[in-house]
Parts: sequence; C-alpha cells; structure tokens
Amino acid sequence: MKGIILAGGAGTRLLPCTRVVSKQLMPVYDKPMIYYPLSALMLAGIREVLFISTPHDLPLFRELLGDGSRLGMRFSYAEQPRPEGLAQAFVIGCSFIAQEPVCLILGDNIFYGHGLTEMLLQAARIRSGGLVFAYQVKDPERYGVVEFGPDGKALSLQEKPRQPRSSYAIPGVYFYGPEVCVEAARLKPSARGELEITDLNEVFLRRGELQVLKMGRGIAWLDTGTHQSLMEAAGFVQTVQARQGLMVACLEEIALTAGWIAPEQVSREVQSMGSSPYSAYLKELLGSVGAPL
Ligand code: G1P
Repeated sequence: MKGIILAGGAGTRLLPCTRVVSKQLMPVYDKPMIYYPLSALMLAGIREVLFISTPHDLPLFRELLGDGSRLGMRFSYAEQPRPEGLAQAFVIGCSFIAQEPVCLILGDNIFYGHGLTEMLLQAARIRSGGLVFAYQVKDPERYGVVEFGPDGKALSLQEKPRQPRSSYAIPGVYFYGPEVCVEAARLKPSARGELEITDLNEVFLRRGELQVLKMGRGIAWLDTGTHQSLMEAAGFVQTVQARQGLMVACLEEIALTAGWIAPEQVSREVQSMGSSPYSAYLKELLGSVGAPL
C-alpha cells in the first residue's frame, strides 16, 4: 500500500502565523505537525509516501523530510498548484499510486490512542473500493458527515452540512483500491471549485463499496484548524508524553521498532539533532535497545 499526505491549503484561519510557513510545518508541541500524520501512515505499515503541497511550501517539506531513507522509507513530492480539493491528490498522485491500494491522510489530522495501530493495519488490507472512518464529534457541521441506517450501514454522506444527519464526522484518513485514480479523474468540481473527497466517497457508497468503520472514544482525533485547537492539541501531546515518558509520533522510534532502520541510523539522527528533547528521547531509546551511541 502507498501513502499520500496532502499538506496544501493556505491556512487562512491561522494567519499571520501561516503567512510564510505552511500550517503543517508549524509545531504541535515539540515536533512539526506533519510528523503526526506521517507516523499514522508508518503505523499502518506504509513505507512509500508522496507529499503533496503548494509550490511555495513543497521545498520546505523536502528539506525537512528528505528522501525517506533516514527512516527506511521512500518519499516523493508533488505540487498542488492551487487548492482544488482533497480528491485531486489522486489525480496528482496517479503515477505514484501505480495500480496499488493507497491511503490518503491530511497533513493536519492527528490521531492517537488505544487500538489505533490495529485499526490502521486492518484498513491497510483493503484491495478495492473505499474505507473511511466515522468519529463522534460535537460539531459535525465542520466536517464530512456520515449517516448510518438502523442496520449500522452507512446510508448517506454530506460535506459540511448546515443540518447534519448525524454526529459522526469522517476524519481525514481514507483508504482505497487503485481504481480511486480513475474515479477521482471523473469527478466534477463542486460549487466552490474543488474535487471533493465526499463526492468521491459517494461514488463508492452508491456502489456498495464503501466501508465505514467507527473509531471508538478511546481514540483521540485532534483538530488543528484554529489557534485554540492547535494549543489544545499541543497540550494533549505534552500531557501524554509527560505522564508516560513515551513520545507521540517519534518517527525514528516507529521505524526502529518496525525493523526498517538499524540503531546506528538512530545514532546518526541523535548526532544531528543537538540537545533537543527529541534527540534526548532517541538517546534513551538507543539505551533501552542496548545499542551504543
Ligand atoms: C476536509 C474534508 C472533510 C473532512 C475533514 C477532516 O475538510 O472536506 O470531509 O471531514 O477534512 O479533517 P477541511 O478540514 O479540509 O475543511
């Protein structure tokens, strides 16, 4: 399975912070926001990732993340010249996807919690059709919304409805078979001129090919769209990390645990990262696996 991280958009709700820096490069406590969705793809076992961003921001992502070899992964980059919708990721990423199943995750979506890895691994087994999640929220009108029938099956989808038919939002992580490229290319832009992910999911729903899995309350899906929610997300990460002494979204830890990189690679990262808490955590990690620094 391939992975795509879409990190476009103007981040207008976070201006002036986002005037020169992409929202997805801003810190969420102690690491850039993009680390969090990238860690989710890694936990799903995905090693080949395409980053899509604006022509202005793409070089910055490349500088931060490189070719992926430091994590035993393979990264590539593609521009989305204008914000023309989430589903455009599959048009831009068509040759990257190359007839494989694919997971799209939005660069500003943060997931954390019990059973998340198992859930992502299960989703990553999809070979055709679509698979999305449903997550109960207080403000569904801000999201894609899914309505369930009495049999628990998805009945309808709405994008940012004024009157939501349920309180289940669809988080920004989506799994599809390779046919998603063709389906995305067939979409017509919506009234706001975008290829809507909800329209794409609708195509699969109408054919009876959309699985919708509920994400339980043990999983935190955090929002980063406003200054307040960004602060709250940072506070959440800080609280969890301080209590457990474990880091959320430590990319090298995930790669090391998966066997994608050797301890020597982590040592090199430690050397390159000075005296930051992130680097100190990696040092501790190396100690715990008995590797010399
Ligand atoms: C997008 C999608 C929406 C989804 C949300 C998840 O909205 O259009 O369906 O629920 O991401 O974060 P946006 O946040 O881009 O407005």
